[in-house]
Amino acid sequence: DKGNFRHFMLKEIFEQPSVVADTLEGRIVDNQVYIETLGDNAAKVFEQTEALQIIACGTSYNAALVAKYWVEHYLNIPCLVEIASEYRYRKTATIPNSLFITISQSGETADTLAALSKAKGEGYLASLTVCNSPASSMVRESDFTLLTRAGTEIGVASTKAFTAQLVSLLLLTISIGKAKGLDKETEHNIVKALEHLPSEIQKALDQAGDIDKLSEAFAEKHHTLFLGRGQQYPIAMEAALKLKEVSYIHAEAYAAGELKHGPLALIDKDMPTVVVAPNDNLLEKLKSNIEEVRSRGGSLFVFADKSAKIQGSDGITVFPVDSSYNVTAPIVYTIPLQLLSYYVAVIKGTDVDQPRNLAKSVTVE
Ligand code: F6R
Repeated sequence: DKGNFRHFMLKEIFEQPSVVADTLEGRIVDNQVYIETLGDNAAKVFEQTEALQIIACGTSYNAALVAKYWVEHYLNIPCLVEIASEYRYRKTATIPNSLFITISQSGETADTLAALSKAKGEGYLASLTVCNSPASSMVRESDFTLLTRAGTEIGVASTKAFTAQLVSLLLLTISIGKAKGLDKETEHNIVKALEHLPSEIQKALDQAGDIDKLSEAFAEKHHTLFLGRGQQYPIAMEAALKLKEVSYIHAEAYAAGELKHGPLALIDKDMPTVVVAPNDNLLEKLKSNIEEVRSRGGSLFVFADKSAKIQGSDGITVFPVDSSYNVTAPIVYTIPLQLLSYYVAVIKGTDVDQPRNLAKSVTVE
């Protein structure tokens, strides 16, 4: 039932404050992360874990890429991320004492399942799945399960399942960290950020009308470039994937530092550039990337923190995002970008909930 919403995609985007609350429910006790279902056995494995190998496809792969930034930053252990269809067919080398992790909304994606089954002979400590479907093959075949609790997702383009994956992966990062001596203060800071997340997402949703207006600038375009740096780079990738899927506009994401290495050649007045600006030590670098695009006649749409002080001007439209915690900023910035894809698709009149050629669950390769 779509309720008052025109499409399931929009309904599911708007469900995200409550989805995130559900994902967190019962997993934070006295300012500490405790995932009961993982239990003591998982804690023993986490204690021995010296590296992670994450495998997924599509949107779930983008979630894995964000997790890589968190894991290497907070846990100081290597986190390898690979697309399932690549991992399954090549000769791989396993880092000793590593944990194999799959991420999947459906729990039935053929390539991810095949990668899991391959991994069983590759000497990992154990397998863990971050999954949205409790009764799925992925859950059955994995040693440990962390359920994302996004509820049933009907729109083919994944939205709420993605944010629930990110929240789950942050909880998992802390859980592994706790077994490996992560300090209490870091844990409390991340917990605080997670507790504020539902209201931050709500604030982003309250800006939907402004995004709707902004989307008009994209509807007539054939190509769009998305730029990000650091943990926002995978968010730029996810935004590009979403726009492609539902609006059929060609979109590409680049790490902003790669601009000079090729994509700058594409910039002209017909190629809008969307920038996901973090409010951290990379902001200054990003500002010069913005200037590189602007000076070549490209129009820019910059999603930036209110405090980032990026001025709108000729060719630069700034869209303010309210996100007070660096660690969870990728999740907050996801919201306006999902809305952007949605509204562009609506203007273009595509079948938003069932984009052409796509299936919700990819059970064949
Ligand atoms: C994009 C999308 C797909 C899925 C991918 C993996 O919006 O939905 O890219 O993310 O097919 O599916 P799961 O997560 O079910 O393994």
